[in-house]
Amino acid sequence: MTASYIIDTARTPRGRGKQGKGSLSNLHPQELLAQVLNTLRQRGGWSASEVDDVMVGCVSQVGEQGANIARNAVLAAGWPIEVPAASLNRFCSSGLQAIHFGAMGVASGAMDLVVAGGVESMSRIPMGSDGGGQDGGNEHLRERFFQVPQGISADLIATLEGFSRVEIDALALRSQRNAVRAIEEGRFAKSLFPVKDPRTGAVLLERDEFPRPDTTAEALAALKPSFVSLGQLAAGPGGETLDQLALQAYPRARTIQHVHTAGNSSGIADGAAAVVLASERYVREKGVKPRARIRAMTTVGSEPVLMLTGPAPASEKALRIAGMKARDISLWEINEAFSAVVLQTTRALGIDPDRVNVNGGAIALGHPLGATGAMLLGTALDELERTGQETALITMCIGGGQGIATIIERL
Ligand SMILES: CC(C)(COP(=O)(O)OP(=O)(O)OC[C@H]1O[C@@H](n2cnc3c(N)ncnc32)[C@H](O)[C@@H]1OP(=O)(O)O)[C@@H](O)C(=O)NCCC(=O)NCCS
Repeated sequence: MTASYIIDTARTPRGRGKQGKGSLSNLHPQELLAQVLNTLRQRGGWSASEVDDVMVGCVSQVGEQGANIARNAVLAAGWPIEVPAASLNRFCSSGLQAIHFGAMGVASGAMDLVVAGGVESMSRIPMGSDGGGQDGGNEHLRERFFQVPQGISADLIATLEGFSRVEIDALALRSQRNAVRAIEEGRFAKSLFPVKDPRTGAVLLERDEFPRPDTTAEALAALKPSFVSLGQLAAGPGGETLDQLALQAYPRARTIQHVHTAGNSSGIADGAAAVVLASERYVREKGVKPRARIRAMTTVGSEPVLMLTGPAPASEKALRIAGMKARDISLWEINEAFSAVVLQTTRALGIDPDRVNVNGGAIALGHPLGATGAMLLGTALDELERTGQETALITMCIGGGQGIATIIERL
């Protein structure tokens, strides 16, 4: 394998993912993605006809996000019909997974130039729209693993780890403060572009609209836990509630402490992002100056009921592949699916919390599922460049009990 280089990154602002509240909620997700593709093309010194493939992560691939959204976005962008595109789903990590597959493509020598990223319009195609639930309704599988919704898993992790509501909320407050500082200081400006109405050209959204700058510890503490009634839902074969089913797998937890709220869980959002990846041959022959290279990329499986503890083992595996230690990483992006995920990952890896999510995360900024991985990678690279640091590790928890990790190195 040769190296895979990152040439450029771009993302939309994250819009609130609710109809009537979000500035991107009137835009077809193909158009959202098409604007990312064209922003990258306009900025880069390459032409769309050179692109060997477009790989796009998207979780809810039904309706407007069905029909291979990647290919339709290529057509919507007005790119040559010869440019192929594929859509993929690895739940919350889909955008980062698309980058992995693209990077493998250019590193293998099979491709020279790939655009990879993700898209999700949660306002138009809400989470769960594919109807599969947690496990596609497979009763036989449920005898082995009864997978519970991710909010219950997050509360179970907090219970098992002994994280208090105060600690959980403190991370959320930090996410808000870091995100607000990043926005005020223009730290997202390099990758971010304004999304426009494709017909009129009017700007629909130019900054992330999910953060709540006026968030206080008191306001967070006053929010009601979001997953109490879900936990009481009778879902098991003998009428067991979801909480009881989770506790059957983890009896030492005794009862689940429901600590996650609208304020300390990732926000429902709309958005799209992508990166341009190039092979060593392309970089050499075209004289392109890459911004970074991918040093390691991994995925792992983890226990599916707890579901969200994959980031630590995925990060450890990536570090092993790179021949690095956790202390060699300057910046960590640990996706803020839920507050407990970041706390658990940080604790398990023994890393300095001050190096984690320095510009906020999905709690403050929102988590447009398929897009987030590509957004996090772009944010990490922009921050490496801004601060002159060298390496970043991006990691995410994934449905079904999985983790993903990518190590990038600034050039
Ligand atoms: C937790 C969850 C259910 C909350 O959904 P919700 O109730 O619709 O959340 P909202 O963001 O609309 O916030 C609801 C209310 O909480 C309050 N609130 C939210 N964040 C707040 C903050 N930081 N400070 C103060 N109040 C806040 C507000 O009153 C808000 O209402 P408003 O928007 O009208 O002002 C939802 O965000 C969720 O499911 N998140 C996880 C998504 C997920 O699973 N992703 C995959 C990861 S594995």
